[in-house]
Order: sequence, then C-alpha cells, then structure tokens
Amino acid sequence: MIEWLAGALIVAVLLLVVREIYRKPVNFPPGPPLLPLLGSTASLQLGSTLPHLVFQALGKLYGKVIGIYLFGQPVIILRDFEVIRSTLSKSEFSGREQTFVIQNRSFFKGNGIIFGQGAHWSLHRRFALQQLHDLGVGRPRAEGLVQLEVATLVQRLARAAGHPTVVSTNFCLSGCNTVLQIIAGKRYELDDPVFNQLVNDTDTVMRLAGPGNVLSLVPWSRLVAPRATGYRSLCALRDLSCRLFGDIVEEHRRTLDPQRPRDYVDAFLLEMAKDGAEEKDFTKRHLEILLMDFFQAGIETVNSTLCWACPAAGPAPGGAGAAAD
Ligand code: HEM
Repeated sequence: MIEWLAGALIVAVLLLVVREIYRKPVNFPPGPPLLPLLGSTASLQLGSTLPHLVFQALGKLYGKVIGIYLFGQPVIILRDFEVIRSTLSKSEFSGREQTFVIQNRSFFKGNGIIFGQGAHWSLHRRFALQQLHDLGVGRPRAEGLVQLEVATLVQRLARAAGHPTVVSTNFCLSGCNTVLQIIAGKRYELDDPVFNQLVNDTDTVMRLAGPGNVLSLVPWSRLVAPRATGYRSLCALRDLSCRLFGDIVEEHRRTLDPQRPRDYVDAFLLEMAKDGAEEKDFTKRHLEILLMDFFQAGIETVNSTLCWACPAAGPAPGGAGAAAD
C-alpha cells in the first residue's frame, strides 16, 4: 500500500513539474497545444514542412500573432505587416538574438557588430561606419570597385552563355570580392580555390545557422549528436574562417604604414596599438569576428537581392515566370 502511495505521489509530482514547465505565461498569444518535451504541436509539423507553410496554417486558426513553444523555447510569430512594423519599432524588441549558435560563432565572447548589443555594439558600429565612409562607401571611389566586379561578373556569365549556370555562386563571389576590397584591400580571382572555399563555407554556415536550427533550440543536442546537429561543421567552418581572416590581418600587420592606413583592417590595427585598446575590444580575435560579420552580412543579402532581381529583369527562356519557378 505504501509503495502504491509513493508511486502515485511521484507520478503526481512529475505531472506538476511538467505542467509548470509547459504552463504558458500570462498574456501569451494564442497558439497550438503544448506537448511534453517537444513544446507546441507545431514542432512536429516544422520537422516535416517548410516553416512559412506551417505558420500560414496556424494563422488560419490563431490569427495575426501566434505563440508557440519549440522544444521549450517560446517563439512568437507575427503574420501581418502593420503588426510587424509596430512591434519592431518598439525599443523592447531592438535587442539581437543571442542563441547558442550565435554565441558559439564568436567563441562565447558576445562580440561583433551584427549580433552585438549595447555600448560595445555602438562603439564598433560607429568605428566601422566612420572607416567605411573614409574608404569611399556611398561615393564614387567605392562605386569604381563595384563597377569592376560587375564587369568581371558579366564577362564570366557571358562565357557560360548557353550552358546551365548556378548564378547564385557567381553573385556570392562578386559580392564578397567587393566587400573584401573595401574592408581588407583584397581581391581574389573568381576561380581562386581558397576564395571559393571561403564563400561556400559561409553559405553552409548560413544554412546551418538559419532560423529554427536545432542547435539554437536544443543546445545540448550537440553533446548527443555533434555531427547530425551541424555543431561539428559550424565549429570547423568558424575556425577555418578565423584562420583565413587571421592570415589577412597578419599580412596587413607586416605591411602596415601608420601614416597611410589603406583599409578598415589597417585602421583597426592602429586602434589596437593605442592605450586601453583591449578594454574596448580592439583585439585580433575581435577583428577576425568583425571581418566574418562583414563577409556574412554582405553575402546572403547581395546574393538574395540579385537572385530575386534575375527573373524580374531578364527575358529568360520561357519568360520571367519560368525563371521565377
Ligand atoms: C542588398 C544588400 C543588403 C541588404 C538588403 C542588407 C540589409 C540589412 C539589414 C535589414 C540590416 C539590419 C539588421 C538588423 O537591424 O538587425 C543590415 C545590417 C547590417 N549589414 Fe546589411 N544589407 C545588405 C548589404 C550589406 C553589405 C554588402 C554589408 C557589408 C559591408 C552589410 C553589412 C551589414 C552590417 C555590418 C550590419 C549590422 C549593422 C548594425 O548592427 O547596425 N550589409 N543589413
């Protein structure tokens, strides 16, 4: 009898613990029911269908603002332009997400601009903007570099005329070359194997670290399945990128003329030599992360914009509709 009572008590306590863990906060937006461990039933659908289709279906049931739990993490989905605009204009929503994948990207130092926050972000953003301005971004000097890359890209695409070509790879290479020239004074030939690897790796990182990646939702899953979760690849690609950017930094250090800074890297190295540089995070490791920031920020955006522009711009065989398909 006592054993039976003890068993019932344990089950009751476990049920209470599970209920506490999965109880939705007050005012949590409407959404699908919760399941133990998995979170919302939406987790199941997201594993098998594209996210926007799942959100579309949920929208029909729950409206413009939906609350779901993905593996214990609360996620709010906004499905209306006006709601998105008014929400994102509030300062409460101006923070940057600090998921496991993002922190792992900067060796858990919380640095960089894209994912930085507070005074640290403000200082480095201002410094970068000032340097980019001095380097001619938004003015004819940078336009010349862009024109050069465009001419090379057009030649390359013209050579491939008549053959199926993956345009996105070409866009990535040209976009990255422009960014690299401005920030690090470096230009690669478009078929350079090191450059191609850097661009491909960056693309892989974007896909592995994209929204809803399992590592950000369940960080401990890397301990169970480091390969399947993408953790091993993300660390390897981060280390490789840092090594390549580290080489660029070293090359700059060897040839630096303090009187004539050539680019963002030179300007950063000069800041590193000043008193208190370490406290302001003017360090080599931070510079590597910042170069990664520029590289990754410039690759996906430029590539997506140009890929969407293609069907709109050209008379592709079969018409713009076929190209869009
Ligand atoms: C079509 C091209 C581009 C588009 C559509 C685009 C779009 C954006 C958007 C929407 C943000 C704001 C993100 C946020 O507030 O959380 C942003 C930030 C940023 N972008 Fe771009 N971008 C483009 C090209 C580039 C390029 C080429 C670079 C590299 C030099 C770059 C570097 C950055 C950086 C460093 C930030 C973070 C700025 C900050 O924290 O205030 N972007 N971009």
